[in-house]
Amino acid sequence: MSGVTNIVFRRLMLRYGADLVFTEMLNDRGVVSGTKRSVEMLYIAEDECNVGVQLFGREPEIMAEAAKIAVSKGAILIDINLGCPIPKVVKKKKGAYLLKEPERVYEIVSAIKKRVSVPVTAKIRKGWYADGEDGMRVVAALRDAGVDAITVHARSVKGGYAEEVDLPFLKQVKEMLDVPVVGNGGVMSVEDAAEMIEAAGCDGVMLARGVLGNPWLVEDIKRFLNGDPSREISKEEFFSVLRGFLHDYIEFKGQEKAFRETKKFISWFIRDLPGASKIRDGINRAGSWAEVWYIIDRYESVINYRFLRGRRKEWKKANS
Ligand SMILES: Cc1cc2nc3c(=O)[nH]c(=O)nc-3n(C[C@H](O)[C@H](O)[C@H](O)COP(=O)(O)O)c2cc1C
Repeated sequence: MSGVTNIVFRRLMLRYGADLVFTEMLNDRGVVSGTKRSVEMLYIAEDECNVGVQLFGREPEIMAEAAKIAVSKGAILIDINLGCPIPKVVKKKKGAYLLKEPERVYEIVSAIKKRVSVPVTAKIRKGWYADGEDGMRVVAALRDAGVDAITVHARSVKGGYAEEVDLPFLKQVKEMLDVPVVGNGGVMSVEDAAEMIEAAGCDGVMLARGVLGNPWLVEDIKRFLNGDPSREISKEEFFSVLRGFLHDYIEFKGQEKAFRETKKFISWFIRDLPGASKIRDGINRAGSWAEVWYIIDRYESVINYRFLRGRRKEWKKANS
């Protein structure tokens, strides 16, 4: 996830049981020319395992060169972005735009597969339009080019987040392919994951907004899949994870950058908790790390904490 899945976030997800994590999407040209931003985003630490690099671009040869560089930096797989809808990307005919160009998708996958020996995967949307026909053509192109797995965000570009996740579409993709199919879209709880796996028969789920500030969702789903009961987490664990995340961020990015970048992460951690909006305002107004730590310490001492993780929604319901 852009602006999210840096090394600090990835480590947290791995600690809570994620089988595979990804870098933020990287511009193929940036990787090839070695821009400062690309180098930073491509950094994979030696102790990090299971990191895939996601690339976006449209020229097969540049994509292949970027993939080769990414593998040399530690990528265990290369994922091609065929789903990003943001205008800056789509205007350049990259990301989700490629859903309209199955032949080019075929060429991109083939070129990358020729250059790297790690698995080459793709993340698609259901399609540009809600009928999913273009999405299906791209799935066929990916299959013919020998893609090693596909993640399907089962909503169309046009429908965006407001559109319901199309589980029958996901099932159709699964039935069409012999390689693993990962479902994505709207998985915010164990129940959502279970429903997706049950309805579509997919081989895994990819979490996105559901894990923002909630690494426990990964553990909950893994426990569910292993037939284990979910685990209550203590207030101490919650605050220790939040503080640890911020300390790691400071260590990795420095005080100043971490100060700017972590405010959104803090609001994700506390969202749906009692008094969250007041705390969020305080954090947003804070002018120093000392103020941020003070607000968190104080919040910990006053919060009436009885819940957590997937139970946040229930907490909200019970208390509204
Ligand atoms: C902040 C943010 C950044 C994202 N960045 C990426 C990205 O870099 N590459 C990608 O394939 N999808 C990206 N996505 C889309 C998600 O991976 C996912 O497909 C989408 O949010 C649907 O899943 P969800 O409903 O579980 O959130 C991003 C989503 C969010 C909210």
